Amino acid sequence: MTENIGVFVAWPYANGDLHCGHVAGVYLPADIFARYHRLRANRVLMVSGSDSHGTPITVKAEQEGTTPRQVFERYHARFLESLRDLGVSFDLFTHTDTENHWAVSQDIFRVLWEKNYIFRKAMRQLYCEKDAMFLPDRFVEGTCPHCGYDGARGDQCERCGKLLDSFEVVEPRCKLCGTQPVIRDTEHFFLDLPAFNEELLAWVQKQTHWRPNVSSFTINYLHEGLQPRPVSRDITWGITVPVEGFEQKRIYVWFEAVIGYLAASIEWAKNHRQPDAWEDWWKGPEGKGYYFIGKDNIPFHAIIWPAQRWGTVG
Ligand code: MF3
Ligand code: ZN
Repeated sequence: MTENIGVFVAWPYANGDLHCGHVAGVYLPADIFARYHRLRANRVLMVSGSDSHGTPITVKAEQEGTTPRQVFERYHARFLESLRDLGVSFDLFTHTDTENHWAVSQDIFRVLWEKNYIFRKAMRQLYCEKDAMFLPDRFVEGTCPHCGYDGARGDQCERCGKLLDSFEVVEPRCKLCGTQPVIRDTEHFFLDLPAFNEELLAWVQKQTHWRPNVSSFTINYLHEGLQPRPVSRDITWGITVPVEGFEQKRIYVWFEAVIGYLAASIEWAKNHRQPDAWEDWWKGPEGKGYYFIGKDNIPFHAIIWPAQRWGTVG
């Protein structure tokens, strides 16, 4: 029986060239998997693209004295070249700054907002007085409260993989200037992850085909209990928040990057003049999606992305 196999490959940040780690870690395994399924006469849709937004790009632009757009366009062009030269058999390698990706991401944000899975909340945030700006999580560095690693970022500790809130970071410093930030009030949009906690746990426990380390990491995480997660940022690069009066805020890069798998599938279908063709991978029981990701991407794919999908359709 012909199966619809989605091969969904992590979207590289467009802030540096692809290297062997990317190839060995995701592109090669994904490509082998895709070619295998094509040989078995399954319908394969293999998509990815450049992750163009967020502070990884703005930090790089800052360092270079260029603009985020220049950074992302340069590396996106180089990714396309490398992937073509390597012969990785993508059906589409796009990027997250397309009109299509903006529309799909903003639609999902809007639906979750209307269903109250996204709510607005006053909060405190770290502010750098020297740079006169609220610090996005990635602009905060310090010590991980869980494992003691000194190079933890405000969004995640790269050593133990835990997601962090920049307040939890011990002895925080501003990534731009190194000074200790202060706390100030602002307002942000939060994804209500606790609303999905139980359902996620029941579902993850049934995913017996997942890799053991992915399952155990995710199950532990869910047992500890999810917290609402801020999904807007005070930066000037990225997809604007589609709520009246808040258009100056941008959608958190991870919130929209994972939407890329769906958006790219839609873009692929449009390109082939069969605008509904993506549904074969995304709707109904026949479609199967396989994600090829790095290990620090697990919570975004195994928790946040399913929550976003269920919240939108449910
Ligand atoms: N850009 C991220 C990284 O390089 C991966 C994003 S995967 C996505 O770690 F699907 F969310 F885009
Ligand atoms: Zn840690």
